[in-house]
Amino acid sequence: MSWNIAGREVSHVGVIGSGQIGPDIALHFSKVLAPKGGTIAVVDVNEQALAKGRAKLDKKISRGEQSGAFQPERAQAMREAVNFTTDYDALKGAQLVVEAASENVELKGKIFQMVADRVDADAILLSNSSHLEPERIFADTPHPGRTAVAHYFFPAERNPVVELVPSAATSEATIDWLQRFYESIGKLPVVVQSRYGYACDPVFEGVFAVAARAVEAGLGTVREVDYVAREALGMTVGPFTAMNLTGGNPITAHGLAEMHTKIQPWYAPPKLLTDKLEAEGPSGRWDVCGRGEKADVQDSSRKQAIIDTLRGGYLGLAFEIVDAGLASIDDLELALRVALDMVGPCALSNELGLSKALDLVQSYA
Ligand SMILES: NC(=O)c1ccc[n+]([C@@H]2O[C@H](COP(=O)([O-])OP(=O)(O)OC[C@H]3O[C@@H](n4cnc5c(N)ncnc54)[C@H](O)[C@@H]3O)[C@@H](O)[C@H]2O)c1
Repeated sequence: MSWNIAGREVSHVGVIGSGQIGPDIALHFSKVLAPKGGTIAVVDVNEQALAKGRAKLDKKISRGEQSGAFQPERAQAMREAVNFTTDYDALKGAQLVVEAASENVELKGKIFQMVADRVDADAILLSNSSHLEPERIFADTPHPGRTAVAHYFFPAERNPVVELVPSAATSEATIDWLQRFYESIGKLPVVVQSRYGYACDPVFEGVFAVAARAVEAGLGTVREVDYVAREALGMTVGPFTAMNLTGGNPITAHGLAEMHTKIQPWYAPPKLLTDKLEAEGPSGRWDVCGRGEKADVQDSSRKQAIIDTLRGGYLGLAFEIVDAGLASIDDLELALRVALDMVGPCALSNELGLSKALDLVQSYA
């Protein structure tokens, strides 16, 4: 069986990489494709990563079954639809491939050559890179008109936003189809222009840097700044908790260092982060509140200083993205609210009043 979406058949999909996010992308595909008989191949070079990915996918499906989100037959079909393998030949016949392997431009380039050798010439090839420009990833991939970045957000099976980033070579037909495809599988595609980090990650990682610098400046502890950030920016989890959840310390340090030179000095990686990585390695965790715990700041002027710093930094970062023409105000407002679970920058500016919002940005800068 297959599914025809806006004139293209989708019956077999590939996901490359079974690390933190690949299995979650596969889980979403299994949810929408398995009921229509579609299949998903998850390819990784590391057997352990595949076993871990399989276990994670099975656990999430079982949880959905227990909560009643999936009927037992559907849950079973979802499990059976996904094949975790080291064999790139499992991609044969795929009409769409999403690469979610390690964030390395040379590696991604090589992967797409292996993928292109196996899939049909009209297959659509996507990279879930969180930063790299599609022009660089697909520089040597045949048929660049059918390539783009499709950047998912944590948790990829539930977070609706997918940033679609075309390169100069991506055809309009591809981007049109991708928008229809993602909408039809329940996602919220947002088309943004190509620049290192695209539209949302400079804000996600930049806000983390702002929060870390607030700690370095002695405004509060990690727990306190993380906790107050929820109120300041309308987040469900603070920026340090988000790093723990996504395992994001190493990629954020790298992303910030690149954005520091490629975009603007604000993105310099904070010492707090580089020291953490040196001391604890990539899996180091931040000391944040557990579920239901509180770390409110009793001293109201210190709390206000944390709030003002976070808001000033956030608004400055978000409006730079609009100034640079990467996304429209509407799209950025929506993407930040839904993908990163933060108050939109326009909503926050309207709530504060525009002159207060500008004051906060200027004071932060
Ligand atoms: N973790 C997130 O929340 C998140 C969010 C958005 C985007 N991303 C992006 O997704 C990609 C993967 O991120 P991650 O956090 O899952 O990384 P990860 O390090 O957890 O996993 C990467 C996986 O790629 C595999 N791999 C390496 N070389 C390979 C090859 N030649 N063929 C197949 N597999 C190979 C590794 O064995 C590993 O299992 C990165 O580009 C990252 O920037 C991650």
